[in-house]
Amino acid sequence: MVNDRTPLLPQVQQSGASSRISTVFNGKRILLVVCVSIGILGLWICSPRSMANTTTSSKPTIAANRENLSFLVVGDWGREGLYNQTLVAQQMGKIGGELGTQFVVSTGDNFYNSGLSNVSDPTFTYSFTDVYTASSLQTTWYAVLGNHDYKGNVLAQLSDDIVTRDWRWFCRRSFQLNFTMCNGSSAGSCNATLDMFFFDTTPFIDEYWTPEKISKFNWTGLAPREEQLQLQLDELREGLNTSSATWKIVVGHHTIRSVGNHGDYAELVEKLLPILEEFKVNAYINGHDHNLQHILRQDSTVNFFTSGGGSKSYAGLQAYTEEQGVRFARDGQGFLAVTVDSDSMSFSFYDVFGDELYSFVLGK
Ligand SMILES: *[C@@H]1O[C@H](CO)[C@@H](O)[C@H](O)[C@H]1NC(C)=O
Ligand SMILES: *[C@@H]1O[C@H](CO)[C@@H](O)[C@H](O)[C@H]1NC(C)=O
Ligand SMILES: *[C@@H]1O[C@H](CO)[C@@H](O)[C@H](O)[C@H]1NC(C)=O
Ligand SMILES: *[C@@H]1O[C@H](CO)[C@@H](O)[C@H](O)[C@H]1NC(C)=O
Ligand SMILES: *[C@@H]1O[C@H](CO)[C@@H](O)[C@H](O)[C@H]1NC(C)=O
Ligand SMILES: *[C@@H]1O[C@H](CO)[C@@H](O)[C@H](O)[C@H]1NC(C)=O
Ligand SMILES: *[C@@H]1O[C@H](CO)[C@@H](O)[C@H](O)[C@H]1NC(C)=O
Ligand SMILES: *[C@@H]1O[C@H](CO)[C@@H](O)[C@H](O)[C@H]1NC(C)=O
Repeated sequence: MVNDRTPLLPQVQQSGASSRISTVFNGKRILLVVCVSIGILGLWICSPRSMANTTTSSKPTIAANRENLSFLVVGDWGREGLYNQTLVAQQMGKIGGELGTQFVVSTGDNFYNSGLSNVSDPTFTYSFTDVYTASSLQTTWYAVLGNHDYKGNVLAQLSDDIVTRDWRWFCRRSFQLNFTMCNGSSAGSCNATLDMFFFDTTPFIDEYWTPEKISKFNWTGLAPREEQLQLQLDELREGLNTSSATWKIVVGHHTIRSVGNHGDYAELVEKLLPILEEFKVNAYINGHDHNLQHILRQDSTVNFFTSGGGSKSYAGLQAYTEEQGVRFARDGQGFLAVTVDSDSMSFSFYDVFGDELYSFVLGK
């Protein structure tokens, strides 16, 4: 379905055979296509049911003939406004307004301390709806899950029913968004594309499956672990292999490269990083470490951005060597803004005062 003008909650078609909820995409293929004036946004998602009735009255408009796409990225945030979550939210609202951002990405750990209990959990209102109130943030929020979300009832966050409480919310374990950017009004001018792949990293972390920790996580809905990981890797590999996009971004919760408290995750360096490199993914954006970082190493083409400063921050950057490729690292709260056009992608970090801390432009 292609609608020429103003999204935002998309028309949805569902197709393909369905199967258990245990597969990455639930075995269901749901085609979600929005044609915004900047182009086409399409998405393959998993959902236990059609999202067709999740549309609500509140549809923000997007200015016509945009040649660029821009969005904010925040992670590790849901604390009912505490620990400067509200301050960060206000600055996101301000910067989002200035940049005309079209959506928000959440890198996970959406609701502390243990995700949501059910679809009527009041935490959803106190930590999301009541906090991100600025008009520029009244757009779709594309969220992945973090380890704290897995401590609760994950299916509540993934549920279509929760969308009736706040239409902006869109959380799936893994999904893909395709964007096309236009430069000019003729159809032929819409030839710059961005594909974004949202990836569920939590099941990959070995520590969470140890006898001491496994009972803290709710793995309901996943396939047996090895099968689950393979399914996700295959799905990502296939999506990237099929993509001919100008730009490719992968979003996950856990760090691959980081000099924060958690550091690098060997599991992801081993299993996920080779795929990002093979298919020339431009950037991997994550949360989990509660700080802001940009890493670009000599031995990799992937830019690593950590945006995990949505609320409580921890001091604790590790000492690092030149080899670790740290371009920017800052303890403290904040968020990332990304702007993409046909020639470049730019990434800027902002702090709780709305000041730009760092900016990086990636050219073609
Ligand atoms: C994005 O495009 C709009 C309109 O096409 C323009 O006004 C704005 O300056 C651009 N923003 C950036 C960051 O390039
Ligand atoms: C909130 O941000 C201010 C300004 O950076 C900082 O001084 C304060 O410690 C922060 N509060 C918390 C709880 O992180
Ligand atoms: C949903 O979760 C909240 C928070 O844990 C709890 O207070 C409430 O009783 C639960 N509601 C239902 C219907 O289970
Ligand atoms: C785990 O998730 C399932 C499915 O969402 C839910 O029924 C169950 O109550 C959850 N268990 C805990 C301990 O939260
Ligand atoms: C858009 O097209 C104009 C005119 O052809 C050109 O000057 C400009 O650089 C293009 N912008 C992008 C982002 O490609
Ligand atoms: C994209 O479209 C612009 C405007 O029509 C054109 O100048 C440019 O060559 C095209 N680029 C590619 C890669 O097709
Ligand atoms: C990419 O897709 C092509 C065509 O389907 C296939 O031949 C090739 O093996 C795939 N490559 C990888 C690395 O998956
Ligand atoms: C997104 O792009 C991929 C190719 O990169 C394509 O296979 C898929 O059909 C597209 N999805 C939608 C909904 O257009």
